[in-house]
Amino acid sequence: MIHTMSLIHDDLPCMDNDALRRGKPTNHIVFGEETAVLAGDALLSLAFQHVAISTRNVLPRRVVQAIAELGSAVGSQGLVAGQIVDICSEGKQIGLDELEYIHVHKTSVLLEAAVVCGALMGGGHAIQVRSLRKYARCIGLLFQVVDDILDVTKSSEELGKTAGKDLESDKATYPKLMGLEKAKEFVIRLADKAMEELSGFDVVTSAPLYHLANYIAYRQN
Ligand code: IPE
Ligand code: MG
Ligand code: MG
Ligand code: MG
Repeated sequence: MIHTMSLIHDDLPCMDNDALRRGKPTNHIVFGEETAVLAGDALLSLAFQHVAISTRNVLPRRVVQAIAELGSAVGSQGLVAGQIVDICSEGKQIGLDELEYIHVHKTSVLLEAAVVCGALMGGGHAIQVRSLRKYARCIGLLFQVVDDILDVTKSSEELGKTAGKDLESDKATYPKLMGLEKAKEFVIRLADKAMEELSGFDVVTSAPLYHLANYIAYRQN
């Protein structure tokens, strides 16, 4: 729900102004901007409502921690911060540190919240949660570096969203700042780093997270 909200709002004319998402016309193209803004608001509220009313057999303290985690991921220190700097940096020269700030905040924090909430709800202890947070931060950055690469290497049909959009909007991206080959090497380094964070966990239990990192690194759309 939160991810879909972020995409509906990201596609709005005042943001990235995109007409294609998941192979279909974007929400505002079909329903109008007013409805797209409100649909995002509703999805965000529903996400918190869902955690509050549908969670079963988890200590209340852990549910509250998870809600706080989600709130901080979406708020002014998280997704909103990343999106603000992303939009304000269009057409400007920025460095790798600022680009990492954008990508970590607009994308990694959401993956971090998903993984950390799972760890909290599943009864993980503090050290495990810390390792999983580091893992998630790596796969989040990885996800966005791959997103930047796919934007310049795939077609709109393959992506289900408008290809070449970052160039058109003069966005700062990893391929633009590092070059395509170096950006691809960075993907492999991030995937390795993410997997290292799983080394302290049982191999079978952590297998889905291991495969998730691989999937994100080698996805084609
Ligand atoms: C936006 O990043 C990420 C969020 C919606 C939080 P992008 O603007 O690069 O995403 P795409 O390329 O439109 O999917
Ligand atoms: Mg965007
Ligand atoms: Mg976008
Ligand atoms: Mg993108």
